[in-house]
Amino acid sequence: MAEYEMILTEMQGRVALIRLNRPQALNALCDQLMDELGQALRSFDADPEVAAIVITGSEKAFAAGADIKEMQSRTYPAVYLDDFIGKRWEAVTYVQKPVIAAVAGYALGGGCELAMMCDMIIAAENAKFGQPEINLGVIPGAGGTQRLTRAIGKAKAMDLVLTARMMDAAEAERSGLIARIVPTAEVVAEAMKVGEKIATLSAPAVAVAKEAVNRAFETTLAEGVKFERRAFQALFATEDQKEGMAAFAEKRKPAFRNR
Ligand code: CAA
Repeated sequence: MAEYEMILTEMQGRVALIRLNRPQALNALCDQLMDELGQALRSFDADPEVAAIVITGSEKAFAAGADIKEMQSRTYPAVYLDDFIGKRWEAVTYVQKPVIAAVAGYALGGGCELAMMCDMIIAAENAKFGQPEINLGVIPGAGGTQRLTRAIGKAKAMDLVLTARMMDAAEAERSGLIARIVPTAEVVAEAMKVGEKIATLSAPAVAVAKEAVNRAFETTLAEGVKFERRAFQALFATEDQKEGMAAFAEKRKPAFRNR
């Protein structure tokens, strides 16, 4: 496995775990950390042994945002020409396999945005979500105003983005931002369990399911439904569809091959 300084990576069965590891800065997402994260995601996505990827931080912080000290003196021409936040941060959105965020502690600014780029968020009881960029004289720059609004609606998104108020795990679950809340010490194990379940399924079906759900964020209902129908029909070309349906009829567990 590649050498990284700001993240830790490991495999548990067929699930890859990426731990953001800059504790002295509450996992502030500096350029180096985001480059390492992008590299790890690309390499796990390309590895046929990997069925799903979990991203986590520490118990105190998933990530407290983009690195304020690193960006404070940047100029407009520099951030524009570098497409700051753009390419470097979008790596998660190009991963074909499911990516699960296991969030404990602070997920603020870019940390909340990174979690929202993942396919599913599992939160610890102590998780806190927020977009406090307005306190710094800026606004969210990695999709916060867009993904948060789509996830929890205008009323709460405006509340968070305009006031910098943090939302706890219970409110985040009520609002539809996160999939599950678990005791803080169990958040990584729970996310890994979701990954292990996914690892038993048909990989083409999993990849298409993820693509179809994500399509709901990108397009109209009519286009999305058409995309879903074509994708559903295409899965009849896989051996796994034959196996999955035969196994049901024969009252046995399916043994998917295209994993
Ligand atoms: N960037 C750089 N350093 C950060 C950081 C950040 N986003 N967040 C925390 N740190 C550093 C602190 O400066 C501190 O370092 P020192 O010990 O060297 O002073 C260390 O991490 C510990 O932080 P605190 O002492 O502040 O810890 P706390 O428990 O008192 O407070 C906190 C925790 C409420 C999360 C507070 O650290 C905080 O408000 N952080 C900033 C949150 C923020 O504004 N995030 C948005 C960033 S902008 C952004 O993300 C843009 C975008 O859309 C991409």
